[in-house]
Amino acid sequence: MFMFSIIRYLLFLFDPEIAHHIAMKSLKVADFFGLLSFLPSPAPSKPRVVFGIKFKNALGLAAGLDKNAEYIDCLSKLGFGFIEVGTLTPRAQPGNPKPRLFRLTNEEGIINRFGFNNVGIDKAILNIKSSKFTGVLGINIGKNFDTPIEEAINDYLLCFRKAYQYASYIVINISSPNTQNLRKLQDESFFEGLISRIKLEQEAQARKHQKYVPFLIKISPDGSMKEMDNIIKLLIKYNIDGIIATNTTLSRNEVSESKFKDQAGGLSGEPLRSRALKTQKYLYKGLKGKIPIIGVGGIMQAKDAVERMNEGAELIQIYSGLIFKGHRLINELCECTKQRQ
Ligand SMILES: Cc1cc2nc3c(=O)[nH]c(=O)nc-3n(C[C@H](O)[C@H](O)[C@H](O)COP(=O)(O)O)c2cc1C
Repeated sequence: MFMFSIIRYLLFLFDPEIAHHIAMKSLKVADFFGLLSFLPSPAPSKPRVVFGIKFKNALGLAAGLDKNAEYIDCLSKLGFGFIEVGTLTPRAQPGNPKPRLFRLTNEEGIINRFGFNNVGIDKAILNIKSSKFTGVLGINIGKNFDTPIEEAINDYLLCFRKAYQYASYIVINISSPNTQNLRKLQDESFFEGLISRIKLEQEAQARKHQKYVPFLIKISPDGSMKEMDNIIKLLIKYNIDGIIATNTTLSRNEVSESKFKDQAGGLSGEPLRSRALKTQKYLYKGLKGKIPIIGVGGIMQAKDAVERMNEGAELIQIYSGLIFKGHRLINELCECTKQRQ
Protein backbone atom coordinates (compact mmCIF):
# COMPACT_ATOMS: atom_id res chain seq x y z
CA MET A 1 0.00 0.00 0.00
CA PHE A 2 2.78 2.38 1.05
CA MET A 3 4.86 1.24 -1.93
CA PHE A 4 1.96 1.88 -4.33
CA SER A 5 1.44 5.37 -2.87
CA ILE A 6 5.05 6.23 -3.70
CA ILE A 7 4.86 4.75 -7.20
CA ARG A 8 1.59 6.55 -7.82
CA TYR A 9 2.99 9.82 -6.52
CA LEU A 10 5.98 9.54 -8.87
CA LEU A 11 3.94 8.48 -11.89
CA PHE A 12 1.44 11.28 -11.33
CA LEU A 13 4.30 13.78 -11.69
CA PHE A 14 4.42 12.89 -15.39
CA ASP A 15 2.05 13.75 -18.20
CA PRO A 16 -0.65 11.00 -18.01
CA GLU A 17 0.14 9.44 -21.38
CA ILE A 18 3.87 9.29 -20.60
CA ALA A 19 3.07 7.86 -17.15
CA HIS A 20 0.96 5.18 -18.84
CA HIS A 21 3.88 4.12 -21.05
CA ILE A 22 6.32 4.14 -18.12
CA ALA A 23 3.95 2.02 -16.04
CA MET A 24 3.37 -0.52 -18.81
CA LYS A 25 7.07 -0.83 -19.68
CA SER A 26 7.93 -1.19 -15.99
CA LEU A 27 5.36 -3.96 -15.70
CA LYS A 28 7.04 -5.78 -18.57
CA VAL A 29 10.47 -5.41 -16.97
CA ALA A 30 9.11 -6.60 -13.61
CA ASP A 31 7.62 -9.61 -15.36
CA PHE A 32 10.91 -10.35 -17.14
CA PHE A 33 12.70 -10.50 -13.77
CA GLY A 34 9.96 -12.68 -12.28
CA LEU A 35 8.94 -9.96 -9.83
CA LEU A 36 5.21 -10.20 -10.55
CA SER A 37 5.10 -13.60 -8.86
CA PHE A 38 5.78 -11.78 -5.55
CA LEU A 39 2.57 -9.77 -5.81
CA PRO A 40 -0.16 -11.01 -3.49
CA SER A 41 -2.61 -12.83 -5.72
CA PRO A 42 -6.36 -13.06 -5.18
CA ALA A 43 -7.63 -16.15 -3.37
CA PRO A 44 -9.10 -18.63 -5.86
CA SER A 45 -12.75 -18.03 -6.71
CA LYS A 46 -15.41 -20.44 -7.80
CA PRO A 47 -15.15 -20.32 -11.62
CA ARG A 48 -18.26 -19.02 -13.38
CA VAL A 49 -19.58 -19.76 -16.83
CA VAL A 50 -20.96 -16.79 -18.75
CA PHE A 51 -21.91 -16.86 -22.44
CA GLY A 52 -20.46 -20.35 -22.58
CA ILE A 53 -17.01 -19.29 -21.34
CA LYS A 54 -15.44 -20.36 -18.07
CA PHE A 55 -14.01 -17.41 -16.09
CA LYS A 56 -11.66 -18.06 -13.19
CA ASN A 57 -13.05 -14.98 -11.46
CA ALA A 58 -15.54 -12.20 -12.24
CA LEU A 59 -13.08 -9.34 -12.68
CA GLY A 60 -11.73 -8.29 -16.06
CA LEU A 61 -9.47 -5.58 -17.41
CA ALA A 62 -11.52 -3.16 -19.53
CA ALA A 63 -10.57 -2.22 -23.09
CA GLY A 64 -8.18 0.64 -23.76
CA LEU A 65 -5.35 -0.06 -21.34
CA ASP A 66 -3.68 -2.59 -23.66
CA LYS A 67 -4.98 -1.40 -27.00
CA ASN A 68 -2.43 -3.30 -29.08
CA ALA A 69 -2.30 -6.55 -27.09
CA GLU A 70 1.35 -5.90 -26.19
CA TYR A 71 1.13 -6.60 -22.47
CA ILE A 72 -1.25 -9.54 -22.17
CA ASP A 73 1.29 -11.84 -20.52
CA CYS A 74 2.19 -9.46 -17.71
CA LEU A 75 -1.33 -8.11 -17.19
CA SER A 76 -2.62 -11.66 -16.85
CA LYS A 77 -0.30 -12.14 -13.87
CA LEU A 78 -2.04 -9.39 -11.91
CA GLY A 79 -4.98 -11.68 -11.10
CA PHE A 80 -7.65 -10.69 -13.63
CA GLY A 81 -10.15 -13.36 -14.64
CA PHE A 82 -10.12 -12.01 -18.19
CA ILE A 83 -8.45 -9.37 -20.30
CA GLU A 84 -9.89 -7.26 -23.09
CA VAL A 85 -7.57 -5.73 -25.67
CA GLY A 86 -8.34 -3.02 -28.24
CA THR A 87 -10.10 -1.10 -29.57
CA LEU A 88 -8.55 -2.31 -32.82
CA THR A 89 -9.37 -0.99 -36.27
CA PRO A 90 -8.65 -2.46 -39.73
CA ARG A 91 -5.74 -0.10 -40.40
CA ALA A 92 -3.24 1.36 -37.91
CA GLN A 93 -4.01 4.97 -36.96
CA PRO A 94 -2.31 7.53 -34.72
CA GLY A 95 -5.42 8.79 -32.92
CA ASN A 96 -6.05 12.41 -31.98
CA PRO A 97 -3.31 15.00 -31.39
CA LYS A 98 -1.74 15.16 -27.92
CA PRO A 99 -2.48 16.06 -25.19
CA ARG A 100 -5.44 13.69 -25.18
CA LEU A 101 -5.43 12.18 -21.70
CA PHE A 102 -6.24 14.12 -18.51
CA ARG A 103 -6.21 13.03 -14.89
CA LEU A 104 -8.84 14.51 -12.58
CA THR A 105 -6.93 13.50 -9.48
CA ASN A 106 -9.24 14.76 -6.74
CA GLU A 107 -12.34 13.35 -8.42
CA GLU A 108 -10.61 10.07 -9.33
CA GLY A 109 -11.68 10.54 -12.92
CA ILE A 110 -9.97 10.41 -16.31
CA ILE A 111 -10.86 12.24 -19.51
CA ASN A 112 -9.50 10.72 -22.71
CA ARG A 113 -9.89 11.59 -26.35
CA PHE A 114 -7.44 9.07 -27.77
CA GLY A 115 -9.55 8.34 -30.83
CA PHE A 116 -8.64 4.67 -31.29
CA ASN A 117 -4.87 5.05 -31.60
CA ASN A 118 -3.75 1.52 -32.42
CA VAL A 119 -1.40 -0.56 -34.54
CA GLY A 120 -4.20 -2.13 -36.56
CA ILE A 121 -5.79 -5.54 -36.22
CA ASP A 122 -3.10 -7.48 -38.14
CA LYS A 123 -0.22 -6.35 -35.94
CA ALA A 124 -2.27 -6.87 -32.78
CA ILE A 125 -3.11 -10.42 -33.86
CA LEU A 126 0.62 -11.08 -34.29
CA ASN A 127 1.11 -9.82 -30.72
CA ILE A 128 -1.62 -12.16 -29.49
CA LYS A 129 -0.09 -15.08 -31.38
CA SER A 130 3.29 -14.47 -29.80
CA SER A 131 1.91 -14.21 -26.26
CA LYS A 132 1.81 -17.17 -23.89
CA PHE A 133 -1.56 -16.21 -22.45
CA THR A 134 -4.10 -19.03 -22.37
CA GLY A 135 -6.84 -17.34 -20.31
CA VAL A 136 -10.01 -15.57 -21.44
CA LEU A 137 -9.18 -12.89 -24.00
CA GLY A 138 -11.69 -10.36 -25.34
CA ILE A 139 -10.86 -8.53 -28.57
CA ASN A 140 -12.59 -5.17 -28.88
CA ILE A 141 -13.05 -3.84 -32.43
CA GLY A 142 -14.04 -0.54 -34.02
CA LYS A 143 -13.86 1.41 -37.25
CA ASN A 144 -11.12 3.63 -38.67
CA PHE A 145 -11.69 7.34 -38.13
CA ASP A 146 -11.89 8.03 -41.89
CA THR A 147 -14.35 5.26 -42.74
CA PRO A 148 -17.73 6.90 -43.40
CA ILE A 149 -20.39 5.79 -40.96
CA GLU A 150 -22.43 4.26 -43.80
CA GLU A 151 -19.50 1.91 -44.51
CA ALA A 152 -18.59 1.22 -40.89
CA ILE A 153 -20.05 -2.25 -41.09
CA ASN A 154 -17.24 -3.33 -43.45
CA ASP A 155 -14.61 -2.32 -40.87
CA TYR A 156 -16.37 -4.33 -38.15
CA LEU A 157 -16.76 -7.37 -40.40
CA LEU A 158 -13.12 -7.29 -41.42
CA CYS A 159 -11.90 -7.04 -37.83
CA PHE A 160 -14.43 -9.65 -36.72
CA ARG A 161 -13.13 -12.20 -39.24
CA LYS A 162 -9.51 -11.52 -38.33
CA ALA A 163 -10.13 -11.65 -34.58
CA TYR A 164 -12.40 -14.70 -34.60
CA GLN A 165 -9.84 -17.50 -34.21
CA TYR A 166 -7.86 -15.71 -31.51
CA ALA A 167 -10.61 -14.32 -29.30
CA SER A 168 -12.54 -15.91 -26.47
CA TYR A 169 -15.14 -13.19 -27.15
CA ILE A 170 -15.35 -10.19 -29.47
CA VAL A 171 -16.66 -6.74 -28.52
CA ILE A 172 -18.35 -4.45 -31.01
CA ASN A 173 -17.48 -1.00 -29.76
CA ILE A 174 -20.06 1.51 -30.97
CA SER A 175 -19.87 3.75 -27.95
CA SER A 176 -16.56 5.59 -27.90
CA PRO A 177 -17.25 9.34 -27.93
CA ASN A 178 -13.89 10.11 -29.58
CA THR A 179 -14.52 8.84 -33.10
CA GLN A 180 -16.83 11.19 -34.92
CA ASN A 181 -20.34 9.76 -35.43
CA LEU A 182 -19.44 6.37 -33.94
CA ARG A 183 -22.29 6.50 -31.45
CA LYS A 184 -24.70 6.94 -34.37
CA LEU A 185 -24.32 3.19 -34.81
CA GLN A 186 -26.48 2.85 -31.69
CA ASP A 187 -29.32 4.62 -33.56
CA GLU A 188 -32.24 2.58 -34.76
CA SER A 189 -31.32 3.24 -38.40
CA PHE A 190 -27.86 1.63 -38.12
CA PHE A 191 -27.99 -0.73 -35.17
CA GLU A 192 -30.18 -3.48 -36.58
CA GLY A 193 -28.24 -3.60 -39.87
CA LEU A 194 -24.97 -3.86 -37.97
CA ILE A 195 -25.83 -6.56 -35.47
CA SER A 196 -27.83 -8.70 -37.89
CA ARG A 197 -24.91 -8.72 -40.32
CA ILE A 198 -22.39 -9.55 -37.59
CA LYS A 199 -24.66 -12.32 -36.34
CA LEU A 200 -24.60 -13.86 -39.83
CA GLU A 201 -20.83 -13.53 -39.93
CA GLN A 202 -20.59 -15.21 -36.53
CA GLU A 203 -22.54 -18.18 -37.86
CA ALA A 204 -20.30 -18.42 -40.92
CA GLN A 205 -17.12 -18.19 -38.82
CA ALA A 206 -18.43 -20.76 -36.35
CA ARG A 207 -18.97 -23.22 -39.22
CA LYS A 208 -15.56 -22.45 -40.69
CA HIS A 209 -13.60 -22.79 -37.46
CA GLN A 210 -15.86 -25.30 -35.72
CA LYS A 211 -15.80 -22.97 -32.74
CA TYR A 212 -18.44 -20.58 -31.41
CA VAL A 213 -17.06 -17.20 -30.33
CA PRO A 214 -19.61 -14.97 -28.57
CA PHE A 215 -19.86 -11.32 -29.45
CA LEU A 216 -20.89 -8.49 -27.17
CA ILE A 217 -22.00 -4.93 -27.77
CA LYS A 218 -20.38 -2.16 -25.72
CA ILE A 219 -22.73 0.73 -25.16
CA SER A 220 -22.59 4.32 -24.02
CA PRO A 221 -24.06 5.63 -20.76
CA ASP A 222 -25.42 8.68 -22.57
CA GLY A 223 -28.17 7.09 -24.69
CA SER A 224 -31.80 8.17 -24.45
CA MET A 225 -34.44 5.79 -23.11
CA LYS A 226 -35.80 5.38 -26.63
CA GLU A 227 -32.34 4.40 -27.91
CA MET A 228 -31.87 1.94 -25.07
CA ASP A 229 -35.32 0.40 -25.56
CA ASN A 230 -34.47 -0.18 -29.18
CA ILE A 231 -31.11 -1.73 -28.27
CA ILE A 232 -32.79 -4.02 -25.74
CA LYS A 233 -35.41 -5.12 -28.27
CA LEU A 234 -32.81 -5.93 -30.92
CA LEU A 235 -30.38 -7.67 -28.56
CA ILE A 236 -33.20 -10.04 -27.68
CA LYS A 237 -34.43 -10.39 -31.26
CA TYR A 238 -30.98 -11.40 -32.53
CA ASN A 239 -30.07 -13.34 -29.43
CA ILE A 240 -26.82 -11.42 -28.95
CA ASP A 241 -24.43 -13.10 -26.51
CA GLY A 242 -23.82 -10.21 -24.14
CA ILE A 243 -23.57 -6.50 -23.49
CA ILE A 244 -20.95 -4.31 -21.84
CA ALA A 245 -22.28 -1.35 -19.89
CA THR A 246 -20.70 1.13 -20.20
CA ASN A 247 -18.12 3.14 -22.10
CA THR A 248 -17.08 6.65 -21.00
CA THR A 249 -19.50 9.60 -20.74
CA LEU A 250 -19.64 13.03 -22.35
CA SER A 251 -21.48 14.38 -19.32
CA ARG A 252 -19.62 16.62 -16.86
CA ASN A 253 -22.45 16.81 -14.31
CA GLU A 254 -20.46 14.91 -11.73
CA VAL A 255 -17.30 17.06 -11.89
CA SER A 256 -17.17 20.54 -10.58
CA GLU A 257 -13.65 21.50 -9.62
CA SER A 258 -11.05 20.05 -11.96
CA LYS A 259 -9.27 22.42 -14.32
CA PHE A 260 -9.59 19.70 -16.96
CA LYS A 261 -13.33 19.28 -16.70
CA ASP A 262 -14.01 21.13 -19.95
CA GLN A 263 -11.54 19.09 -21.97
CA ALA A 264 -13.29 17.24 -24.78
CA GLY A 265 -13.44 13.47 -24.49
CA GLY A 266 -14.93 10.60 -22.56
CA LEU A 267 -14.98 10.73 -18.78
CA SER A 268 -14.37 7.59 -16.71
CA GLY A 269 -13.77 6.66 -13.10
CA GLU A 270 -15.70 7.78 -10.03
CA PRO A 271 -17.64 10.60 -11.82
CA LEU A 272 -19.01 7.98 -14.26
CA ARG A 273 -20.15 5.55 -11.59
CA SER A 274 -23.79 6.55 -11.04
CA ARG A 275 -24.49 7.07 -14.75
CA ALA A 276 -22.99 3.70 -15.71
CA LEU A 277 -24.92 1.99 -12.92
CA LYS A 278 -28.18 3.63 -14.00
CA THR A 279 -27.64 2.46 -17.58
CA GLN A 280 -26.85 -1.05 -16.42
CA LYS A 281 -29.97 -1.17 -14.23
CA TYR A 282 -32.17 -0.01 -17.11
CA LEU A 283 -30.70 -2.67 -19.39
CA TYR A 284 -31.05 -5.41 -16.82
CA LYS A 285 -34.68 -4.56 -16.26
CA GLY A 286 -35.38 -4.54 -20.00
CA LEU A 287 -33.39 -7.66 -20.79
CA LYS A 288 -34.99 -9.56 -17.89
CA GLY A 289 -31.85 -11.60 -17.38
CA LYS A 290 -32.00 -12.99 -20.94
CA ILE A 291 -28.62 -11.56 -21.95
CA PRO A 292 -25.58 -11.39 -19.66
CA ILE A 293 -24.17 -8.00 -18.74
CA ILE A 294 -20.57 -7.02 -18.03
CA GLY A 295 -20.69 -4.02 -15.71
CA VAL A 296 -17.98 -1.36 -16.11
CA GLY A 297 -17.66 2.31 -15.27
CA GLY A 298 -16.62 3.83 -11.97
CA ILE A 299 -15.91 0.64 -10.07
CA MET A 300 -13.36 2.04 -7.62
CA GLN A 301 -13.92 -0.07 -4.50
CA ALA A 302 -15.52 -3.27 -3.24
CA LYS A 303 -18.94 -1.78 -2.59
CA ASP A 304 -19.19 -0.54 -6.19
CA ALA A 305 -18.45 -4.04 -7.48
CA VAL A 306 -20.98 -5.63 -5.14
CA GLU A 307 -23.60 -3.09 -6.20
CA ARG A 308 -22.99 -3.83 -9.89
CA MET A 309 -23.29 -7.56 -9.33
CA ASN A 310 -26.44 -7.07 -7.25
CA GLU A 311 -27.91 -5.01 -10.07
CA GLY A 312 -27.49 -7.70 -12.67
CA ALA A 313 -23.85 -7.80 -13.83
CA GLU A 314 -22.46 -11.31 -14.25
CA LEU A 315 -18.94 -9.98 -14.66
CA ILE A 316 -17.25 -6.63 -14.06
CA GLN A 317 -14.32 -4.73 -15.55
CA ILE A 318 -12.10 -1.90 -14.39
CA TYR A 319 -9.77 0.64 -15.95
CA SER A 320 -9.66 3.93 -14.00
CA GLY A 321 -9.79 2.15 -10.63
CA LEU A 322 -6.54 0.41 -11.48
CA ILE A 323 -4.87 3.76 -12.20
CA PHE A 324 -6.00 5.35 -8.93
CA LYS A 325 -5.95 2.37 -6.58
CA GLY A 326 -3.34 0.07 -8.08
CA HIS A 327 -3.02 -3.68 -7.92
CA ARG A 328 -4.61 -3.98 -4.46
CA LEU A 329 -7.99 -3.17 -6.04
CA ILE A 330 -7.80 -6.37 -8.08
CA ASN A 331 -7.50 -8.51 -4.95
CA GLU A 332 -10.20 -6.49 -3.20
CA LEU A 333 -12.67 -6.89 -6.06
CA CYS A 334 -11.92 -10.58 -6.62
CA GLU A 335 -12.48 -11.19 -2.95
CA CYS A 336 -15.82 -9.37 -2.73
CA THR A 337 -17.25 -10.92 -5.90
CA LYS A 338 -16.03 -14.42 -5.07
CA GLN A 339 -19.24 -15.84 -3.70
CA ARG A 340 -21.59 -14.14 -6.13
CA GLN A 341 -23.08 -16.01 -9.05
C1 LIG B 1 -7.58 6.15 -21.32
C2 LIG B 1 -8.76 5.30 -21.68
C3 LIG B 1 -8.81 4.67 -22.93
C4 LIG B 1 -9.91 3.89 -23.26
N1 LIG B 1 -9.93 3.27 -24.49
C5 LIG B 1 -10.98 2.45 -24.79
C6 LIG B 1 -11.01 1.75 -26.03
O1 LIG B 1 -10.09 1.82 -26.83
N2 LIG B 1 -12.10 0.97 -26.28
C7 LIG B 1 -13.14 0.83 -25.40
O2 LIG B 1 -14.09 0.10 -25.67
N3 LIG B 1 -13.12 1.49 -24.21
C8 LIG B 1 -12.08 2.27 -23.90
N4 LIG B 1 -12.07 2.92 -22.70
C9 LIG B 1 -13.23 2.79 -21.79
C10 LIG B 1 -13.01 1.72 -20.72
O3 LIG B 1 -12.87 0.45 -21.29
C11 LIG B 1 -14.19 1.71 -19.74
O4 LIG B 1 -15.37 1.36 -20.42
C12 LIG B 1 -14.41 3.08 -19.10
O5 LIG B 1 -13.19 3.69 -18.80
C13 LIG B 1 -15.22 2.97 -17.80
O6 LIG B 1 -14.55 2.19 -16.85
P1 LIG B 1 -13.69 2.83 -15.64
O7 LIG B 1 -14.55 3.87 -15.00
O8 LIG B 1 -13.35 1.67 -14.76
O9 LIG B 1 -12.48 3.43 -16.27
C14 LIG B 1 -10.98 3.71 -22.35
C15 LIG B 1 -10.90 4.33 -21.09
C16 LIG B 1 -9.82 5.11 -20.76
C17 LIG B 1 -9.77 5.76 -19.40
